[in-house]
Amino acid sequence: MESKQLVYEGKAKKLYKTDDADLLLVQYKNDLTAFNGQKKATEHGKGALNNQISSLIFNVLQTKGIPNHWVKQLSEDKQLVKHTNIIPIEVVVRNVSAGSLAKRLGLSEGDLLSQPIVEFYYKDDELGDPLINEDHIRLLDLVESSVLLNMKELAHQVNLVLIDYFKQCDLRLVDFKLEFGFDSNGELMLSDEISPDTCRLWDIHTNQKLDKDVFRQGIGSVDEAYNVVLERLKGAVSHG
Ligand code: C5P
Repeated sequence: MESKQLVYEGKAKKLYKTDDADLLLVQYKNDLTAFNGQKKATEHGKGALNNQISSLIFNVLQTKGIPNHWVKQLSEDKQLVKHTNIIPIEVVVRNVSAGSLAKRLGLSEGDLLSQPIVEFYYKDDELGDPLINEDHIRLLDLVESSVLLNMKELAHQVNLVLIDYFKQCDLRLVDFKLEFGFDSNGELMLSDEISPDTCRLWDIHTNQKLDKDVFRQGIGSVDEAYNVVLERLKGAVSHG
């Protein structure tokens, strides 16, 4: 499919119009950012890795009946998705203590949480994506309460599917971020990407970090880490 007019450029992706108003072409970029854009780098091949990883994951989620925007992978670094109007809420699901949760609550990194935790963040770069709750979401009128409930329920479902999928790849799903949107029929669905840029993934045996923390903490090669994830996902057979 021919890429046409650029409609949006984010930190990690470019979105282009296609001949079909309901479909967008997504090109995954090689740029890496962390700490709300304060740390930046370009990693050759990162876009292709994340496009392939995200495609495999969205495909698995679709086979499990979880609605998402992914249509098909077009090339190494491009995929076709349904056009969605993104809800400005980042939904984070956590299984193991790490990152901002560990820092905020003074927990040790790596502690298994007694149950998964779902958090909401207001998607606003200028405000630094603050943590918000249901009352803040109502105050800011970001989304209807019934939709928020559906988002939370879908986030838990995604978590169950992905814990199992990653386990088959000897990977521990520590935490991840989801975004949701509405398609042209008003259907709520998962959007954006699911990749080592948006998940924490640790080797299940050694706890080696195989995600963006490698870049955030400067502890190794992003290319090598993301390649391990891709190769393991490719080798996994999803349970029916
Ligand atoms: O930094 P924090 O611990 O809150 O991140 C939780 C999870 O959400 C991590 O997997 C991180 O990569 C992801 N995340 C993201 N985009 C953001 C914030 C967090 O993908 N803007």
